[in-house]
Amino acid sequence: MACIVNFSAITQPKPQPCFASLPASTSSHRSNSPKLQTSHLSFASNNSRISLRYDRTLAVSPPRETLLSKAPNFMVGLISCFSDHEQIVAAANKPEPLKIMISGAPASGKGTQCELITQKYGLVHVAAGDLLRAEVAAGSENGRRAKQFMEKGQLVPDEIVVMMVKERLLRPDAHKNGWLLDGYPRSSSQAIALKEFGFEPDLFILLDVAEDTLVERVVGRRLDPVTGKIYHLKYSPPETEEIAARLTQRFDDTEEKVKLRLRTHHQNVEAVLSMYKDITVKVNGNLSKNDVFAKIDNVLDELLEQRKAGSGYLEANKA
Ligand code: AP5
Repeated sequence: MACIVNFSAITQPKPQPCFASLPASTSSHRSNSPKLQTSHLSFASNNSRISLRYDRTLAVSPPRETLLSKAPNFMVGLISCFSDHEQIVAAANKPEPLKIMISGAPASGKGTQCELITQKYGLVHVAAGDLLRAEVAAGSENGRRAKQFMEKGQLVPDEIVVMMVKERLLRPDAHKNGWLLDGYPRSSSQAIALKEFGFEPDLFILLDVAEDTLVERVVGRRLDPVTGKIYHLKYSPPETEEIAARLTQRFDDTEEKVKLRLRTHHQNVEAVLSMYKDITVKVNGNLSKNDVFAKIDNVLDELLEQRKAGSGYLEANKA
């Protein structure tokens, strides 16, 4: 992945034209401009405001992957450059992509809302349950082990699920477009691991649905193996006979199994909620799927508006 940063100088207080490129070996477009080496930059981000610290005394370059993982996506903006050991604070001209978690009891509508959210906002949908089912379908060792827990409606052990989710979140598409984490974390240990890996959400959406509704939704759920779309025989029936004929049912979608999954959910939900209480939005999931989405859409719109208002902002601070 190529990643180039262009900086333009502005006139205060000791203006210097400067140019930085990643990787360090990339040649400058402006041959007589001083180069900021990758070793001299570190990134810190606070929503849309990005700080770049430039220290000429540093000699050792961090690995390129480290810089890329820390670097913001926008990589364009006016930068003010100071003479010695500067701190450069620049504003993004494009807000950071959203990082959202969606949670709720089994069949509360997480997957259904994720389809609608990704269609509109282009976030990368990462569903722990889907990753696990893919492993089960592939017949891998992890899949075989995971299935034993999934059949009992229990949480799959962290040593399987934590790395699986981490690896998916680290892929470039999630970094570039933002992510929508579905059904993860489901325990405080998973939430702590995510934090330690540096994955912090902007918003935690909790779908709140009455328990008897959940059972009805599970039993009537069907999946289209071709498109991956979620249907419900009563609430969201397939559009054509052809689709109806190919629909499948999940192995854990029985009344008996959903009750086990519900019990597991109740045992863990409070521990997870307590870690995200400051950024939690509770949404009434008993409404129709479009009405639920309208509520989520409002919240996401507002979040993006706040981000846009915060970008295009420029300030410079001496370290
Ligand atoms: P997972 O696949 O995540 O299952 P779940 O949490 O039980 O949730 P569901 O996928 O069943 O439901 P959903 O909320 O996505 O609802 P949907 O939109 O499909 O996990 C499965 C298993 O994997 C777990 O039991 C566990 O063993 C393991 N696992 C997963 N994550 C793990 C983790 N982090 N750690 C450890 N283990 C983990 O909707 C359901 C139905 O309702 C559909 O038919 C839909 O059409 C319908 N519907 C949706 N919204 C509405 C609405 N508003 N009105 C009417 N109908 C609606």
